[in-house]
Amino acid sequence: MLNELEKVQSEAAVSISQAFTEKELSDTRVRILGKKGSLTQLLKRLGTLPETDRREIGKRANQVKEDLEKKIAVALLQIQERERTEALEREKIDVTLPGRRIPVGNRHPLTQILDEIIDIFSRLGFEVVEGPEVELDYYNFEALNIPKGHPAREMQATFFFSEDVVLRTHTSPVQVRTMEKKRPPVRVICPGAVYRCDSDPTHSPMFHQVEGLLVDKGITFADLKGVLTIFVHQMFGKETRLRFRPSFFPFTEPSAEIDIECFICGGKGCGVCSNTGWLEILGSGMVDPAVYQFVNYNPEEVTGFAFGMGIERIAMLKFGINDIRPFFTNDLRFLKQF
Ligand code: DAH
Repeated sequence: MLNELEKVQSEAAVSISQAFTEKELSDTRVRILGKKGSLTQLLKRLGTLPETDRREIGKRANQVKEDLEKKIAVALLQIQERERTEALEREKIDVTLPGRRIPVGNRHPLTQILDEIIDIFSRLGFEVVEGPEVELDYYNFEALNIPKGHPAREMQATFFFSEDVVLRTHTSPVQVRTMEKKRPPVRVICPGAVYRCDSDPTHSPMFHQVEGLLVDKGITFADLKGVLTIFVHQMFGKETRLRFRPSFFPFTEPSAEIDIECFICGGKGCGVCSNTGWLEILGSGMVDPAVYQFVNYNPEEVTGFAFGMGIERIAMLKFGINDIRPFFTNDLRFLKQF
């Protein structure tokens, strides 16, 4: 029986030393000291021994039991210690590692220019309003004093849905829609997409405009000049020279186009300004009394001015781009430059 005891002890010691996790250790413990454990089985047989042997072997058996329990306790501490170290190792954060870069996008160059335009006019008290891109002939032409058959329609290479429905060719119809809804004073800008059947390096069938309209009592051409001069100076720099050049639009009278001095050649004449020294940037004028009749405003009581500009054109001038198409081809190599 002493031999058996030695054998159980040495086998148990090996099992304990091989247990790698707490679970394995507690299973090992059950296999040795549990109800059917190897040592327990042995102890149960003590009673069958002759009186003389029982004491000595019993004593020895208790020593083995104590020894194994101690070994198990020590093993448990070691396992816990090792697991704690491993956990700390696993969760360690190296604060010296460089952070992960989050790729940031950037606003489309046209959005940047539009935001800038909106900023400038917001500061001057203008409110942003929008209108539909699929528009009635009435708003796009008729109510802007361009009746059917008027030669000015020719310039606006129009996409027609039907005789009465078009893709708007400019943002000016939003003027009419705004005045229909609101009594003076009116002070709005109307950004949005417009469409013309035209496509070459500087014309796209879809492009963007910003329309402006200010109507109130006692508005004169001096107000138009003041507001648009402020706009040009904020947009292109306050040293920029500009000129008001007489022009014609059916919905304004008198009308003027605004040119800024060519900033490529400083006004001397170059390829960009077709040797004129000037760059045209917008159309404007005093709202024609004929337009007020369509919206029941009394031209004896109120006056106002309107203007319209192409966002792509302003962007091309500001960024020095001579082709309109890259704005719409979604090539990141182009878009990332702004
Ligand atoms: N709607 C004109 C166009 O697309 C631009 C324009 C000119 C708008 C003069 C205006 C204006 O409001 O007064 O060519």
